[in-house]
This record gives sequence, structure tokens and C-alpha cells, in this order.
Amino acid sequence: MRRAVTLFSTLVLATTLLAAPGAFAPAQAQNPQQQDGMNPMGTKPTADSVNEEFLFKQADKITGRVSIPDRKSANLIQPQGREYRAFRESWLPWIGGLGILGMIAALGAFFMWRGRILTDDTQESGRKILRFNAFERFAHWMTATCFIILSLSGLNYIFGKRLIMPLIGPDAFGALAQWAKYSHVYLAWPFMLGVVIMVGLWLKDNIPNRIDWAWIKAGGGFLGKGHPHAERFNAGQKGVFWMVAGFGAAMGVTGLMMLFPFTLVDINGMQVMQVIHSLIGIAFIVGILAHIYIGTLGMKGAYDAMGSGEVDLAWARAHHDLWVEKEQAKTASGPQLTGRHPAPAE
Ligand code: HEM
Repeated sequence: MRRAVTLFSTLVLATTLLAAPGAFAPAQAQNPQQQDGMNPMGTKPTADSVNEEFLFKQADKITGRVSIPDRKSANLIQPQGREYRAFRESWLPWIGGLGILGMIAALGAFFMWRGRILTDDTQESGRKILRFNAFERFAHWMTATCFIILSLSGLNYIFGKRLIMPLIGPDAFGALAQWAKYSHVYLAWPFMLGVVIMVGLWLKDNIPNRIDWAWIKAGGGFLGKGHPHAERFNAGQKGVFWMVAGFGAAMGVTGLMMLFPFTLVDINGMQVMQVIHSLIGIAFIVGILAHIYIGTLGMKGAYDAMGSGEVDLAWARAHHDLWVEKEQAKTASGPQLTGRHPAPAE
């Protein structure tokens, strides 16, 4: 009897297993979806209809309805925010870090290779020529001071949380970040004013011309030994001027959009502004690092132009010969020429 039961249950199990594929086959036939999730039309009807990404592509924001005056609060999901966050948290620190450290390394390598650029006639003439008057220097240093603080406080937005907070702790970092933010917001104004003044003062001397092309072809005195002809500003300085004018304007406009949120642009627009502001800010810092290098360590005698305002006549002749000629043609012993010996008209 026990043997008969065992035989019977084995038969039942075997029959069930054999019948199973046949039992499931009709169900598969009713569902046209294949194993890869596609139907015979080549689409994924069920997957697409519930796909978040698909929905997000339909609108830049998914909004509800509110009855309070602040319509922004109806914004439920803003898909662009994900791309923005990915940029802000991973791309931006890499771009910033590599750009700034790359420029510092490049300047260091250039200094090792070329050394300090000296005037051919290393013997100073002892006579001075006025290169920038007090107002020009004031505008430059106001802009430069603001720029440096804006750069540091701007970099704190990108790197502070990662680099400074672990060192000083969250409380001290909170206080620091708050002051950095205040300085960023308030110093933006004198910076913008300084850029406008500098553009007004030096625009006429920065219009590109044929002399600049010849200066560039001659390597600007950086690569060879001699100093190519230059007017008040050489092609490299004109590049700095136009960078300051263009980047200054772009930083101002994008910064104002963020300073006055929702005035002209919505949340998506502000994220775009922030991306532009941070990328141009990095490029601006990288460019100004090169400018600071050449104005200090890179070239002997250059700093005097913005320090005391007066440069040695031999330096001026070597680096800005056409400008010196023009200045001297204006007046024989001109007010722009000062020093121990009055300069004769030459
Ligand atoms: C510590 C920082 C800085 C130093 C040591 C420095 C130094 C100088 C010097 C020596 C000059 C005169 C070059 C000449 O003889 O023509 C100059 C010019 C100039 N600087 Fe600066 N500068 C600094 C920061 C800045 C910043 C932050 C900006 C703008 C954001 C700026 C914008 C300019 C412009 C537009 C000129 C005239 C064009 C040129 O000569 O390149 N400078 N700077």
C-alpha cells in the first residue's frame, strides 16, 4: 500500500512538470511584450508611461496649484535641478581645481624656464616717466582688492565645505562662510564700479591694431630676447583689458540675477546663471593669476607702474617704445617726465 502511494505521487509530480510549459504558454501569447521588454511595435508602452525621465522631458518644471500669492511654491519637481547639482557637486570642483592649480604649475614652470624678464639695458636710466596717475591707480587697486576677496569668497562656495570645514569644524566654518558671503555680495558693487572706471579710462588705448599682431608674431618678448614695438598697452595687456571688460560684465550680469532672485529669471534661469558665473569666475581667476605673475615676479620693473605710478625711462623704452615717443612728442620736458634729471626731448 505504501509503495502504491509513493508510485502515485511520483506520477502526479511528473505529469505536473510536463504540463507546466503548456500551462504558461497561453499567458505569454496574451502579453505581446517580449523578453527584452519591447512589444512587436518596437516600443515599451508600459515602461514609458510611468518613466520619470520621460515625464520630466515634457516640462522643465512639474507644478501643482496654490492659492497663495507666492506662485513659486507650486513648484513640485524641477528636473533640471538634478543636472545642476551634479555639475555643482562634482564637475565644478574638478574644473576649478584643475584650472587654478594648472595655471599655478604652468607659471612656475615658465618661471623656471624663462626666469625674470629683464630690461635689455639693465642699467636704470635714473629718469622716470609717469605711467598711471593717482586716479588710475586708485581704480586699479580698488578693483584688484575687491577681485581678490571676491575670488577667495567665491572659491569658498566651491571648496570650503570640503577643504576648510574638516580643518576648523562646522561652527567656525559657518561663521567664516557667512562673512565670506557678505563680502561677496557687498564687494561686488565696488568691483563692478572699478571695472566700469577702468574701461572708461583705458578703452582708447586698448583698441587692437596691426602693431599688436606684430607683437604677437614676435612672441611678445617672452620667447625671444628683444622687445617688440608696443604702444601704451601691448597685445598681452590688451588681452587682459578685454578679459576684464568681458568677464567683468558677465560676472556682474549673472551675479545680479542671483542677487535679486526671481526678478528676471526663474529657478531654472538662476541655475544657468550660477553655472555661467562659476565657470567664468574660474576662467577669470586663472587669467588674473597670469596677470599678477607678470606684474610682480615675472618682469622686473613692471610693478612700479601700478605701485608709485612711475617707471624707469629705460624700462618704458624697452617695453612701450611707441608710447614713450608719443608722450615725449607731446611736450619737450613734459609734466609726465620726472626724476633726478629733467628728461630732454629726444
Ligand atoms: C595683486 C594683484 C595685481 C597686481 C600686482 C597687478 C599689477 C598690475 C600692473 C603692474 C599693471 C600695469 C602694467 C603696465 O605697466 O601696463 C596692471 C595693469 C592692469 N591691471 Fe592689474 N594687478 C593686479 C590685479 C588686477 C586685477 C584683480 C584686475 C582686474 C580684475 C587687474 C586689472 C588690470 C588692468 C585692466 C590693467 C591694465 C591693462 C594691463 O596692463 O594689463 N589687475 N596691473
